[in-house]
Amino acid sequence: MNEDVRILAIESSCDETACAVVRNGHEVLSNVVATQLELHARYGGVVPEIASRAHVEAVNPVIAEALKQSQTTVDKITAIAVANEPGLIGSLLVGLMAAKTLAWMWQKPIIGVNHVYAHAYSPTLDAEPVQYPAAALVASGGHTALYRCDGPMNITLLGKTIDDAAGEAFDKVASILKLGFPGGPAVDKSAREGNASAVRFPRTLLRGQSLDFSFSGLKTAVLYHVRGTSGGRTQQDVQPRSIEDYSTTEIADIAASFQAAVVDILKIKIRRAVNLTSARTIIVGGGVSANSALRSTLQTQAAKLSCTLRMPELKYCGDNAAMVAGLAYHYFKAGQLANLDLDSRPTIM
Ligand code: KG4
Ligand code: ZN
Repeated sequence: MNEDVRILAIESSCDETACAVVRNGHEVLSNVVATQLELHARYGGVVPEIASRAHVEAVNPVIAEALKQSQTTVDKITAIAVANEPGLIGSLLVGLMAAKTLAWMWQKPIIGVNHVYAHAYSPTLDAEPVQYPAAALVASGGHTALYRCDGPMNITLLGKTIDDAAGEAFDKVASILKLGFPGGPAVDKSAREGNASAVRFPRTLLRGQSLDFSFSGLKTAVLYHVRGTSGGRTQQDVQPRSIEDYSTTEIADIAASFQAAVVDILKIKIRRAVNLTSARTIIVGGGVSANSALRSTLQTQAAKLSCTLRMPELKYCGDNAAMVAGLAYHYFKAGQLANLDLDSRPTIM
């Protein structure tokens, strides 16, 4: 008989309330995401208390919609999964409580999944399995880290950001350039009209062959450039300026130059991770993997390194529950189930 393992997963770690049903770890039957972007836009970032309240309101309708769209009845659901780490604690708790309630009510096993590992699994959705070992980059608003993956569940941290996440840098630069929130897509769009060589921003690579990241210096460099100051002091012969003084073309040039610096840093760190792990597969996931310049640069980079590049479809780059359900299938097959005392963990281990 053909295998039919259907997992319903809930994702609520940050500002998206999501639910999905995925069959056998890769076939997405439904993928519902309720975004809170509008609620947070006026604050220029995610406000944790607003996020958890919005999750409470959205979680039941989102689950109902995901079940409906999957055309799956409850008796056909094999297990319930939930992203229970890392994330905003109030947000995680809403998804966790909803998942526990469903597991108890429907008498199904429950599976806890790490949200960041789920991003590393996302290229498998509606696609072929990944060939392991792989070097994986997860770059999002909350995390930027490199991993060695020996399987979907077998993940070893190689390096992570020591300050801002890459997506956070995009969001902050978009705010400096007054391009709106969330910053990633806005910078990406503006950069398409700009000259990436207009400004040479720093590429912070840290010592030796470090696989850690640092983006705060780059963000500050953009700020000083825009103000026409250096380290807080006005450069000689340069008038201090405010962003309102810049033309759309100048802003596009800064956006493109900043984006080129981020893409360079990520490209170089991926090369280091490939060299260290001897992996022949590169995985890139997380919100920043939607970036158009990153996607095209990494295609060339992967070919040069004789690696296969696996990136998620655009709809699976940002936060979603399909990646959680997909990865949970492997925990289910391995018998790694949780209990109703499953806890949430806010920070990355
Ligand atoms: O994975 P994600 O949805 O949420 C977290 O787990 O944090 O990532 C969101 C981040 C935001 O910082 C957003 O600005 C960034 O991903 N992002 C992008 C693009 N689309 C989203 N960054 C660069 N270019 C994009 N096209
Ligand atoms: Zn995420």
